[in-house]
Amino acid sequence: MEYISKSYEQTISIAEKYAETLKKGDVVLLRGEMGAGKTVFAKGVAKGLGIKDEITSPTYAYMNDYGGKLYHYDCYRLSSGEDAESLGLTDYFYGGGICLIEWAENIADVLPKTVKRVKIEKISETERKIIL
Ligand SMILES: Nc1ncnc2c1ncn2[C@@H]1O[C@H](COP(=O)(O)OP(=O)(O)O)[C@@H](O)[C@H]1O
Ligand SMILES: [Mg+2]
Repeated sequence: MEYISKSYEQTISIAEKYAETLKKGDVVLLRGEMGAGKTVFAKGVAKGLGIKDEITSPTYAYMNDYGGKLYHYDCYRLSSGEDAESLGLTDYFYGGGICLIEWAENIADVLPKTVKRVKIEKISETERKIIL
């Protein structure tokens, strides 16, 4: 499915609906350049899952845990799957929560075999193509 989002709010609502299709244990790779809207999409998924906490970018923490229900990763600063494993970050891939992973490219060798993918492409300052 392809969607065109013309605003932050539209991306939130596309992600909120997408959240309804997710099941416990799903691992979702969020792809797209810096500033594409991966973290915005994660905020929408959290909203769709009924998570009330504010979703912030986990850039420096690598992963934020929202009550075991949602794990939001940013692997931008990780250089290998081995690093992710030694930090214990890969354990959650096989738990009961939903994992959303930004920059999963950096830890490609330790991702589960079955994943879902979301791609966000920047069309202009305010427009995004979202491929689910
Ligand atoms: N249609 C849109 N959808 C999502 N974000 C948008 C849109 N238009 C502009 N933006 C802006 O783009 C930026 C996306 O940032 P962010 O989600 O942190 O990117 P990423 O996590 O992919 O690096 C935000 O500042 C957001 O306000
Ligand atoms: Mg981000």
